[in-house]
Amino acid sequence: MDRIQSLEMRGISKSFQDVKANREINLTVSSGEILGLLGENGAGKTTLVNILYGLYHPDDGQILINGEPVRLRSPKDSMRAGIGMIHQHFMLVEKHTVLENIALGYAEAPFLFPQRSLRGRIRELSAQYGLDVDPDKPIWELSAGEQQRVEIIKALSRNADLLIMDEPTSVLTPQETDELFDILRKMTSGGHSVILISHKLEEIMDICNRVMVLRKGQVTGEARIEEVDKGKLAVMMIGRQIAAAYPKTDIDPGDAVLEITGLDVDSDRGLPAVRGLSLVVRRNEILGIAGVSGNGQQELVETITGLRQPLSGSVMMKGVPLDHADARKAHTLGITHVPEERIKYGIVPNLLLYENSVLKRHRDEPFSNWIQMNYAVIKDHAGKLVDGFNVDAPSINIRVKNLSGGNIQKLILGREISGGPDLLIAAHPTYGLDVGATEYVRKQIIELRDKGGAVLLVSEDLDELFMVCDRIAVMFEGRFMGQVTPDSCTIEEIGLMMAGSTLQEA
Ligand SMILES: Nc1ncnc2c1ncn2[C@@H]1O[C@H](COP(=O)(O)OP(=O)(O)OP(=O)(O)O)[C@@H](O)[C@H]1O
Ligand SMILES: [Mg+2]
Repeated sequence: MDRIQSLEMRGISKSFQDVKANREINLTVSSGEILGLLGENGAGKTTLVNILYGLYHPDDGQILINGEPVRLRSPKDSMRAGIGMIHQHFMLVEKHTVLENIALGYAEAPFLFPQRSLRGRIRELSAQYGLDVDPDKPIWELSAGEQQRVEIIKALSRNADLLIMDEPTSVLTPQETDELFDILRKMTSGGHSVILISHKLEEIMDICNRVMVLRKGQVTGEARIEEVDKGKLAVMMIGRQIAAAYPKTDIDPGDAVLEITGLDVDSDRGLPAVRGLSLVVRRNEILGIAGVSGNGQQELVETITGLRQPLSGSVMMKGVPLDHADARKAHTLGITHVPEERIKYGIVPNLLLYENSVLKRHRDEPFSNWIQMNYAVIKDHAGKLVDGFNVDAPSINIRVKNLSGGNIQKLILGREISGGPDLLIAAHPTYGLDVGATEYVRKQIIELRDKGGAVLLVSEDLDELFMVCDRIAVMFEGRFMGQVTPDSCTIEEIGLMMAGSTLQEA
């Protein structure tokens, strides 16, 4: 088959029961181009690219490659036509090596010694596009950025001309994002094309040649990147400007809620992850933890939420020791948690929306008495969450897995924040949220703090930390390099501390 010079989706429509996810969408992308696909949570972006990858079948419309109509009945058809897709959640086999993963389902592998020629091909692609990975490492040892490079090599080794990436940067560190963008630039200068979905307007401005905006399943705007700026994109997406700052009143913090002293925790691999760390979070206070992911933040959070046993040190919640890994106790003491991998750990995909709205609390008053669940109360609660957090769902009786990625997140955030916890631990709370929802969630976190809650906010987004937090601690290799207030420090100084400088040096 010829290389893809141009691809066109013409009049594409797709409904799920009553939801019109895509309505008469026209899209074109040409060789050498990066098209940004933007839109609010639930706008229909993933549905549209899933159609292109042969995962969903459109109810109506046509797909043309180089002017010729094609039928894409399955991912196999799409791959054969030169379309590759990198899903947000990687699909690699953890125990296998990079090479083995790329070899899986590799159509052109020769019968004998398939790995030898593949190794050569991997080396070629790595050199050509700057895709640096070790073919013999098992997947579980790789960072998110490295795993993504494996997915890209896998797609390229199957001769993908058009690469679809659904929110590729939400799992990457800022550094890894820059590396990914370098790779994409090399690919497009070699004639590939890319469709990139992202909620980060800066990234869209940085990397795309053209943007297309979806709203409620319809195309509401299209532009060359030179014709727009971040403000204009936000208006195209949500119909209004985004607020530049968050109204936040100064409050003196109250009693200590969480007190950690001299905490040491090991990682899954048995290496020191948290080293002699101490911190305090008080009522009416938001403590931000800045840092490149992988510097012990996850192990710290897991220890506080009772999911991981520390080696030594003390964790006190409202004066009560949390010395053993006991998630139930942490919950009873008023800790709620929005995990980083919330789609994996925050919901039960096959349960209904209203059932998910009381997960972990379904045995508590008022959702249940000793004898039975009170479904009227649960459904009422679910309805309020959906309204309050603008969860775009046709009803509270649908299976949660059928919500869009961002709307699942809004539901989880709403559930955890709305309980009025004494301590909210939120890891990257705005990952995957559109700009309107991001603004909303940040406001809710500040409101919780105003009402007397303590918040521990783990994020790599420095703008977010500066906007929301009262204090920021910078974590590097399991230790705090310093604790600062946002008004006494610059983003650059925090950046230096994230890379291992002390506060004085920075
Ligand atoms: N398999 C499905 N069954 C039922 N409804 C679905 C299914 N997939 C998507 N939908 C619905 O289609 C609409 C569009 O969802 P889609 O996942 O395409 O949005 P999105 O633009 O990717 O949003 P996000 O930014 O949150 O990822 C949503 O209302 C969603 O609930
Ligand atoms: Mg999506």
